[in-house]
Formats: sequence, structure tokens, C-alpha cells
Amino acid sequence: MNLVQQLKWRYSAKRMNGSKIPKAKLDHILEAIRLAPSSMGLQPFQIMVVGDQAIREQIFAESCKQPQIRECSHLLIFNGWNTLTENQVDEYMENIANERQHDLSELMDFKTSILGALGHKSKSEIQSWSAMQIYIALGTAIDAAAMSEVDATPMEGFDKKAMDKLFDLEAKGLHSVVLLALGYRNEDEDFLAKVAKVRRKPEDIFEFI
Ligand SMILES: Cc1cc2nc3c(=O)[nH]c(=O)nc-3n(C[C@H](O)[C@H](O)[C@H](O)COP(=O)(O)O)c2cc1C
Repeated sequence: MNLVQQLKWRYSAKRMNGSKIPKAKLDHILEAIRLAPSSMGLQPFQIMVVGDQAIREQIFAESCKQPQIRECSHLLIFNGWNTLTENQVDEYMENIANERQHDLSELMDFKTSILGALGHKSKSEIQSWSAMQIYIALGTAIDAAAMSEVDATPMEGFDKKAMDKLFDLEAKGLHSVVLLALGYRNEDEDFLAKVAKVRRKPEDIFEFI
């Protein structure tokens, strides 16, 4: 099984069949997200993993009633940080110090460079920076799902203000960015299951210099 083969297999399922993903596959996808690269390694996001049907019904109502939200196994809500505080940077420094057996004092230059690059940014700049990191994690999750033969549908079609309110995200210093429905396609109900994949030609995308 290789990645390109699996990217041809995958599509953004609009209808899913309600079957649950085995825990090992869900864990594999979540671990891939955790291992995704991010700017300066800060991973400025939090991800809610919603298995609960009643909560997904509430999200469905705020998400253009997209059927895959109620028919998936788990719905991931990718939330970005609204601000970057010195505390968050300190936590990261402690994590590095623990994992790499450094003394915290050796990391002061790195901490200063992070705060120098991001510390003065406005809320909206931090929000768009954190969203960019989320899209890398989202792509990694989609690839990991494809390699596990799990269907994955990314979604921006939802009311972000309503989602933030539903989960009180502002109070947690977060904002919702994108959703990912994980589950299994319903081939009988989903017209997209049998249509050809549409992509621009390589020569229109790549320029070899
Ligand atoms: C960031 C992003 C947001 C998307 N939002 C939605 C959405 O709200 N609803 C939906 O059905 N598909 C959504 N899609 C799926 C795209 O329409 C789909 O990826 C594209 O048409 C290519 O088709 P494929 O993924 O089936 O190969 C989204 C995809 C991305 C990457």
C-alpha cells in the first residue's frame, strides 16, 4: 500500500454509514496529527474528538446540515490558539528540556527568538498563524486516514461563530478552524463514491526550473 494509491482511493465522503472506526485506527490518525510538523514546533492548536452522537447532532445544525457529521464515526474539531503567551512558550521549553535532557537556561535564546517573532503579533495574526499550522495537521490526518482505509472529509462549511459559542472556545483562548469527519463511506447513498477524481494537470501545477 503506498500513499499515492491511497490518495486515489480516498475522497471526501458526503455520506457515511455510521460504522465505528476501530480504536487502533483512530489512535493511529491522532498520533499522526500529534507528529505533524508545525512552525517552531509550537503546535498551537487543540483538537476535540467528538464521538458522542448527541453532540454531533448539535454540530450538524451549525454545519449546513452536512450528513457526514451525523453519519461519521468521530468528528475532529481543529481549534487554533487565539494568542501566544509567555506561559505557552515556557511550557514548550520545559517539554524540550525534558525530552532532550537540556537545562532550561540553554533554551533562553530559543525562547527569546520565538517571542521576538510572534510575541508582538495581534490576535488576528496569531489566529491566522495557528490556522496555518492546523492545515498541516489536517493534511497529515487525511493521509493517515487514507493509509488506514478510513474515509476522511475535511469541512470548512460550518458557522464558526456558532461553533465557538457551542464549546465556549473564546474563554479557552481558542477558535474553531476546520472539521474532519472520520468514518466509512456509504457507497449506495453517496453519488461522489463512484465519480472520477478531478485534479488539475501536473503541467498546470508544477514548474520545473
Ligand atoms: C479546507 C477544506 C474544506 C472543505 N470543506 C468541505 C465541506 O464543508 N463540505 C464538503 O462536503 N467537502 C468539503 N471539502 C472537500 C473538498 O470539496 C474536496 O476535498 C475536493 O472537492 C476534492 O475532492 P476529494 O477530496 O473528494 O478528492 C473541503 C476540503 C478542504 C481541503
